[in-house]
Amino acid sequence: MVEKKLLPSILNADFWNLEELILATLKGGADGLHMDVMDGHFVPNLTFGASVVGAVAKRVNTFIDSHLMVEEPSRWVEEFVKNRSNAVSVHWEAEKHLHRTVSLIKSLGAKAGVVINPATPVEVLEEILPFSDFVLVMSVNPGFGGQKFISTSLRKIEKLKNLLVKLGLEEKVSIEVDGGIKLNNIEDVLKAGADWIVVGSAIFSSSDAKEVENNTKRFKEVLEKFL
Ligand code: DX5
Ligand code: ZN
Repeated sequence: MVEKKLLPSILNADFWNLEELILATLKGGADGLHMDVMDGHFVPNLTFGASVVGAVAKRVNTFIDSHLMVEEPSRWVEEFVKNRSNAVSVHWEAEKHLHRTVSLIKSLGAKAGVVINPATPVEVLEEILPFSDFVLVMSVNPGFGGQKFISTSLRKIEKLKNLLVKLGLEEKVSIEVDGGIKLNNIEDVLKAGADWIVVGSAIFSSSDAKEVENNTKRFKEVLEKFL
């Protein structure tokens, strides 16, 4: 049985107050942290690297999910696993040798994920699914938090779930969904078949730790109805 996870993305957090806000999400029931790594080339934004992931990971005992929105991700995988990423996902659109990179992530002891952008059909994943631990379905165009959920993503999640069932992989491969998830659409995303839910701006909408904790609790309460 694949487990459900609520994974706050720190991208939109108040970085001046990051420690307190991360601890607030964990107090609110977060099952880990989603780390949005951007190189300014694969996506039109630049965030942080493995050293920031490591600085966070060595202080909090939680699941660290590193989403690499970078060109040639195979160059960076080892660095992120060395910095305590428990899961590393790379974009199908950015990787020429996806089977080799997915195998590398797993050989390093982390869960291996493949990410697809909104315009990329799930069918392209058929050959890599047997080697993957999870698929990250982008429900916004990668690069920024606070964007609107692309509504066709729900049908896409269902198609991915059906493909996993067809391949007999529905108990092995988790579906992660990322982008534009709010309290008014998370149930639809879970009903469509999502297992891991990334929420950024809807949790970090405030730099007040109590509010961040309460935001996290609200999302976790919904997720718990699907356990
Ligand atoms: C976008 C990132 C997402 C984003 C989620 O490129 O991959 O993780 O930060 O933030 P919200 O929930 O605000 O869309
Ligand atoms: Zn992300």
